[in-house]
Amino acid sequence: MEDPREPHVLILPFPAQGHTKPMLCLAKLLASAGVRVTFLSTHHNRCSPSSSPSPLLRFVSISDGLPDDHPRSLELIGEFLLSIKTAMKARLREFLLSESAEPPLTCVIADGIMSIGIDVAEELGVLAISFRTFSACCLWTFFCVPTFIHEGKLPFPDDDLDKEFHGLPGAEGLLRRRDLPSMCRSQIESNPYRYFLDETTTMTRASALILNTFDTLEGPMLSRLTTIFANVYAIGPLHALAAESDIGHSSGRTAFVGSLRIEDRSCMTWLDSQASRSVVYVSFGSLAKITIDQLMELRHGLVDGGRPFLWVLREDAILGENEETVKSLLSELKVPSERRCVVNWAPQEEVLAHPAVGGFLSHGGWNSTLESIAAGIPMICWPHTGDQQINSRWVSEVWKIGLDMKDTCDRSTVETMVRTLMEDKNEEIMKSMARISALSSASVVSEGSSSKNLGRLIENLRKIGR
Ligand code: UDX
Repeated sequence: MEDPREPHVLILPFPAQGHTKPMLCLAKLLASAGVRVTFLSTHHNRCSPSSSPSPLLRFVSISDGLPDDHPRSLELIGEFLLSIKTAMKARLREFLLSESAEPPLTCVIADGIMSIGIDVAEELGVLAISFRTFSACCLWTFFCVPTFIHEGKLPFPDDDLDKEFHGLPGAEGLLRRRDLPSMCRSQIESNPYRYFLDETTTMTRASALILNTFDTLEGPMLSRLTTIFANVYAIGPLHALAAESDIGHSSGRTAFVGSLRIEDRSCMTWLDSQASRSVVYVSFGSLAKITIDQLMELRHGLVDGGRPFLWVLREDAILGENEETVKSLLSELKVPSERRCVVNWAPQEEVLAHPAVGGFLSHGGWNSTLESIAAGIPMICWPHTGDQQINSRWVSEVWKIGLDMKDTCDRSTVETMVRTLMEDKNEEIMKSMARISALSSASVVSEGSSSKNLGRLIENLRKIGR
């Protein structure tokens, strides 16, 4: 006899902004399609909207096992990851074993670097699906890294990074050493990188893969991933797909944006006073840190670039400096306030959609790249770590929607890139961006590939619910 159980999905993001936001978009989309969802964050990165956008979407949090005052920064990531693997895993297990929600859990959608979700799902006998917040091209590269290590191609020394790198199937002739994920440089055997490689291997225990990308952007790389996963669901850009559904929207603005920091909306008023397509938006995501020297080079390069700029400078963004020092250095900016605006955190999607914005100087984080594509804003990428090196290579050489500043951040490079992007010498980039942005929009309408792939995912979640 058929068991009439409804589907109930637990969504488990890695506790950081760039992971929480796309997984929250997925949670909203599933709930709006009638699937019950429990969204599990950590107390420290609690996702606690004032009201849930759907009665089917519930928010809970557990401890990540670290004391409240632990910085959970990239410098101490080893401690953070260890705590997730041990203390947080124990709490997740405890939470799920004592869980009495109705209907019972039928599936865990675990972040691709939260294999604790796969472990616990297996223990409970429910389905596990992996959601990796990377691009398909980067995830494919990660899957190939163990082979490169085995073949002795990795790690390579940090010098001669311009040397061509051969052997990534589907990317022949495209890559230099410096374009591979930063972990492929000499530190490959160090702990955090081993964690990310192990997590990638563990992902294959999941029954399916969800990616925040779309078929017409990454078709060839998605096909390669189907050699590893029987089911691959490309359902991005998720922020655009969620905006297409009416859940969480009020008065034309996303009322439920998944930002873990407080947005400084004063920059929107400043943008209103700027000429069309004149502003360079500068933001390096939620984690990247720069040195004070890099800050000064960027500062000079932006000023010399001659364009107004809106710069997101998080209070924790400068290595080894306190907020006061940074503020005083920036107050020395020799440009009138009409030409610059600096904020701690901006409503990025809205900024990119503002008519005054003409270019995005970014670290090439995957959410930022997709948000730039959806808004049709060409990019300059200055990648820092993880997936960003690969993303920035694809941005400049495959999709041709921006420039790649990889590993350089001197004032004259910044100035030249800003001028090149903003001063109409970038016809090819503008054309490609317009084309790819249109493909992105087409993927999220009701008959678009991402909407259909999401439909397929929901159908399968319902099947296992029964
Ligand atoms: C990191 C990785 O770089 C990313 O590629 C991976 O998939 C997840 O972890 P992060 O460095 O934070 O994430 O960058 P990104 O993926 O670009 O995400 C940043 C998010 O913060 C974006 O959704 C962006 O809209 C948001 N943001 C950023 C704001 O809302 N306001 C800001 O001022 C800056």
